[in-house]
Amino acid sequence: MGYKTFASMNIAVVGTGKYCEALSAGLAKAGHNVFMATRSEYDEVSKELLARYRRICPSSIEYAGAVADVIILATPAEEVREMAYFLEDVRQKVIIDLTGLNLTRYSTYINTHAAIKAITGSQHVVKCYNRTGSENLVATESTADMIIAGDSKKAKALTALLAKDLKFNACHDFGGDELIPSLDQMANNWQNLSISAKVPGSIAYRLIKR
Ligand SMILES: NC(=O)c1ccc[n+]([C@@H]2O[C@H](COP(=O)([O-])OP(=O)(O)OC[C@H]3O[C@@H](n4cnc5c(N)ncnc54)[C@H](OP(=O)(O)O)[C@@H]3O)[C@@H](O)[C@H]2O)c1
Repeated sequence: MGYKTFASMNIAVVGTGKYCEALSAGLAKAGHNVFMATRSEYDEVSKELLARYRRICPSSIEYAGAVADVIILATPAEEVREMAYFLEDVRQKVIIDLTGLNLTRYSTYINTHAAIKAITGSQHVVKCYNRTGSENLVATESTADMIIAGDSKKAKALTALLAKDLKFNACHDFGGDELIPSLDQMANNWQNLSISAKVPGSIAYRLIKR
C-alpha cells in the first residue's frame, strides 16, 4: 500500500474542539475536503480555519455524514451515541473512532467502537489512538505513531493512509475488535499518567519494532 494515496477525499470531522481543529487543518493541508461538523456555534479558532482554508467547509453533522467518504468522530466519548444517531445512512462508510475514554461508565455497550457499529450499522469502524494533543498534530515533521484496531481491513487501510497525510511517523495495526478494550485501557492509563506529569498534549507514542 505504500505507493498509494487518496487525492481529495471528502472527510467529515465531527466535533470542533482543539483536537478536531488541528486535525481539520492537517487534512485540508494534505488536499482533502473537510466538512467540519458541529451542532453549535463555531468558536473563533474554527472561524479562522474556515476563513483560511477553502477546503474546510462548515457543515451540519447530517450533511457531513451524507457527503463524506470517511467520517472522523472526535467528541467526548459519552456523546458518541447521540452523535451516531445524527448520522443518516452511513452503513457503507468508513468511520474512524478517535474518541478518548471508553463508554463503560455510560452505557450498556462495551466501548465506543461497539456503540458506533451497533447504532450506525457500519462494519467499517476503526478505533484509533495517538494519545497526543493538538500540539503534535500541527507539528510540521512527523512525531507521533498512530495505533489502530478493528475488524475492517478497509477502514484500517484508509486510516493508515490518512495518518501518513497527517505526517504521523507510523501507523501500527494491533488487531481486530477483540483488542479494542486493551487499547482503551492503555490509552486511559497513558492519559492519566500524562496528566499527572503535567504534559498531557505534548508527549506522544512512538513504538520501536525490531
Ligand atoms: N484518540 C486519541 O488518541 C485522542 C487524542 C486526543 C484527543 N482525543 C479525544 O478527542 C475528543 C475531542 O478532543 P478535544 O480536545 O477536541 O475535545 P473538546 O475541546 O472538549 O471538544 C469536543 C467537541 O465535541 C463536540 N461535541 C460534544 N458533544 C457533541 C455531540 N453530542 N454532537 C456533536 N458534537 C459534540 C463539542 O461541541 P459543542 O461545542 O457543541 O459542545 C466540541 O466541539 C475527546 O474524546 C478526546 O479524548 C483522542
